Amino acid sequence: MSSAGFPEGFVWGVSTSAYQIEGATSADGRLPSIWDTFSADRAEACDHYHRYAEDVRLMKDLGMAAYRFSVSWARVFPQGDGKPNAAGLDFYDRLLDELGDAGITPYATLYHWDLPQALEDRGGWPSRDTARHFADYAAAVHERLGDRVDTWFTLNEPWVAAFLGYGSGSHAPGRTSAAEAFRSAHHMLLGHGLATQALRAAGAARVGAVLNLSPVMTPAQVSDFDRPLSDEDAEAVRRIDALANRQFLEPMLRGSHPAELLPIVERNGGLGHVRDGDLQTIAQPLDLLGVNYYTPLVVQAQPSELADPAWPGSEGVLFCTVPTAVTAMGWPIVPGGLSLLLRRLSHDHPDLDLMITENGADFVDVVTGDDIHDVERISFIEEHLRALRAAVEEGARVRGYLVWTLLDNLEWSDGYRRKFGLVHVDFATQRRRPKDSALWYRDVIRRNGLAE
Ligand code: NOJ
Repeated sequence: MSSAGFPEGFVWGVSTSAYQIEGATSADGRLPSIWDTFSADRAEACDHYHRYAEDVRLMKDLGMAAYRFSVSWARVFPQGDGKPNAAGLDFYDRLLDELGDAGITPYATLYHWDLPQALEDRGGWPSRDTARHFADYAAAVHERLGDRVDTWFTLNEPWVAAFLGYGSGSHAPGRTSAAEAFRSAHHMLLGHGLATQALRAAGAARVGAVLNLSPVMTPAQVSDFDRPLSDEDAEAVRRIDALANRQFLEPMLRGSHPAELLPIVERNGGLGHVRDGDLQTIAQPLDLLGVNYYTPLVVQAQPSELADPAWPGSEGVLFCTVPTAVTAMGWPIVPGGLSLLLRRLSHDHPDLDLMITENGADFVDVVTGDDIHDVERISFIEEHLRALRAAVEEGARVRGYLVWTLLDNLEWSDGYRRKFGLVHVDFATQRRRPKDSALWYRDVIRRNGLAE
């Protein structure tokens, strides 16, 4: 442990995703992804496709050791399959060369929600074929970039992609079917397994996946994690935990389904899409689990037979607001939830290496002249780093921490009004200005921890 409390070699950096920053949606043969079709916002985003060299320089100046980015599937296979589009891959080639020159280690995510529209037109994730196409895409990307990328993440936050994309319809492609959401989740997991096999066969050094994980608790537990629960609340917490967390953790890490899940899927379209052998395919050994943590899920039992559309199977459960500080997204700020989550993962999967692949916050930034004094973002990250350090001191195998995110960007259905960046972007001019949080984070990286 260094004096500032993080282990030697702890990896510090930032995460981004292709659709949220790249722009250039029709450059070099790229065709639409489901997000181009779905989103009302112009997708110029941060024009990172043309400004990547400036952005890498910015990361270098801020002392970043690691950069997690995603590859746009629609650049590599504009039609969903066939021959990979070399011109689309060229962009990542240039980006990786730039990162290499800057001494920044790349972490590549293969699926950060931007399915080629051509594959959606052939059935999207509810179709089993999409899992196979995903493995072919992973192999093609590795073939071109594998000499410079050691760590590969297959999926980013499959819960969001499946249940907001195909369940509530608030994300692309905007379908609203509980059955399709469960089918999508299973096929994403299958795609993860097949892609992991393909990456291993091609000699990938390290393979992992990124999940959005949230401890599930009642309102009373937000201020007292150990508060005992009534039987009804305990059942509600367990069921939402199965849907949010264990639906993905257990197939990937244990080759099983959580017991609570299968009766729910039975009632929502059935289990016809789950074939013998799928769980074995999904449960490939993983080198690293990426954990995205923002906020806990706060629920209690309620006498109602309605399910939230994003949560098929949540009948009788109320999603609660709580009187704690929230970010501009309205997400409760509960740093201790991160320690809780890491303790649990370390207990359930003691041999697994973890990395915080996203943590950060949307706040309304006050811009005065050239300065952006984002004190709330600084204290959000600082409190989460304290919680992380506490878990690491207890033995959690967390190898690094990546802030979401480098640049203010295109926050999916919420568009440009959400500000998660360490760096402010003026979308009229594309000028980048590091906020105070960026400079503060540079010092954290320099001293490998917090000042105290
Ligand atoms: C998680 C997602 O991976 C990322 O794309 C998104 O911008 C952040 N959450 C904030 O909502």
